[in-house]
Amino acid sequence: MSRPVLMAITVLAASALSFPLLAAAPAPAGDAQAGQRAFAICASCHSRAVGEPARLGPNLAGVFGKKAGTNDAKFAYSSALKTAAVSWNDRNLDAWLARPNALVPGTKMAFAGVADPKTRSNIVAYLKTLGR
Ligand code: HEC
Repeated sequence: MSRPVLMAITVLAASALSFPLLAAAPAPAGDAQAGQRAFAICASCHSRAVGEPARLGPNLAGVFGKKAGTNDAKFAYSSALKTAAVSWNDRNLDAWLARPNALVPGTKMAFAGVADPKTRSNIVAYLKTLGR
């Protein structure tokens, strides 16, 4: 057998072997650049540069990892969000962006939610870059 044919067989065998491993891997982390573009739907309500004043919603610089209702000290949060036992980790941000009112009933974030899980994970990846 010629060398190129052997190489092609090796490559095919390797991809056949690695495919089940890839399929079993956890969902890939979001794409922050795509998340930045998707953030257009949030930007009318949310500023994101450090120190920028709040809009209809709080400034989001540094929000990842914070307890809910604490990121923007000058913002008048709802008591629902302030008293929610929620910290902004990946799982909670995903649930919040899917349906804010389901994670925190009574929140004043008047936003229906982002249906597409991939878009949510991209936005969360982008939120992680803010304020760093
Ligand atoms: C119509 C305005 C509006 C839109 C659009 C909106 N938000 Fe909000 N958001 C708010 C308000 C108001 C709050 C405060 C909620 C409260 O106090 O109950 C908030 C709160 C938040 C918080 C919690 C902040 C903290 O300090 O705990 C995060 C995170 C957040 N929004 C992310 C987003 C993202 C990401 C998007 C876009 C996918 C988005 N929001 C779209 C108005 C909005």
